[in-house]
Amino acid sequence: MKDLADLPNSPSCERNKDAILKKLDQHLSVTTSVLEIGGGTGQHAQYFASAMPHLSWQTTDRAVYLENLATRIQYADLDNLPAPIALDVSQPWSNFDLRYDGIFTANTLHIMGWEEVVGMVAWLPKVLAPKARVITYGPFNYGGEYTSESNRRFDQSLRQQEPSMGIRDFDRLETLMNQQGIELFEDCEMAANNRLLIWDRT
Ligand SMILES: C[S@@+](CC[C@H](N)C(=O)[O-])C[C@H]1O[C@@H](n2cnc3c(N)ncnc32)[C@H](O)[C@@H]1O
Repeated sequence: MKDLADLPNSPSCERNKDAILKKLDQHLSVTTSVLEIGGGTGQHAQYFASAMPHLSWQTTDRAVYLENLATRIQYADLDNLPAPIALDVSQPWSNFDLRYDGIFTANTLHIMGWEEVVGMVAWLPKVLAPKARVITYGPFNYGGEYTSESNRRFDQSLRQQEPSMGIRDFDRLETLMNQQGIELFEDCEMAANNRLLIWDRT
């Protein structure tokens, strides 16, 4: 097993985890089981599971990320943080028997292609409990406009790397969510021109 110090580390996770946790504490206080999509390095999973022992945090990611993610989760050794599951939202979600009353996904929607975002939202009702909370974190555009110059530059650099990536339009995401019976509960402005969008399956 790799040393903890050799695992990938995301500085942005370190910067944003306290501010996100403050909101999760408020909005996941009665949630019992969270499914995280695109867990990445696992820093969020470890931090949030450790701070919210009342819930179980099931992180996931694409197979290519799984080994490092699993190693961090193993080091964390928390009862409410099971080994990660492979999940690529563009594939059928066959691994899930359980229903979750929370979904968390950070900095993923601008990395997935739009068709993957569409596929992910379409799957949500199949893994969600009847009354469930969905939380999406990252940069979003509103009314087709960037919320800052730095987001415009970020979007350009994403599209140069890979044309299918890019900052998503809040309104288009809301339309997709609404089609699945998921409604916006709160839109929180966060640091560095990010938003924490809190949605409810009604
Ligand atoms: C910028 S990283 C964010 C990781 C972590 N959530 C964070 O906030 O640091 C983007 C993540 O989205 C995941 N992702 C991209 N496309 C995906 C897909 N089709 N299915 C599942 N996850 C995907 C990547 O594997 C990666 O972990």
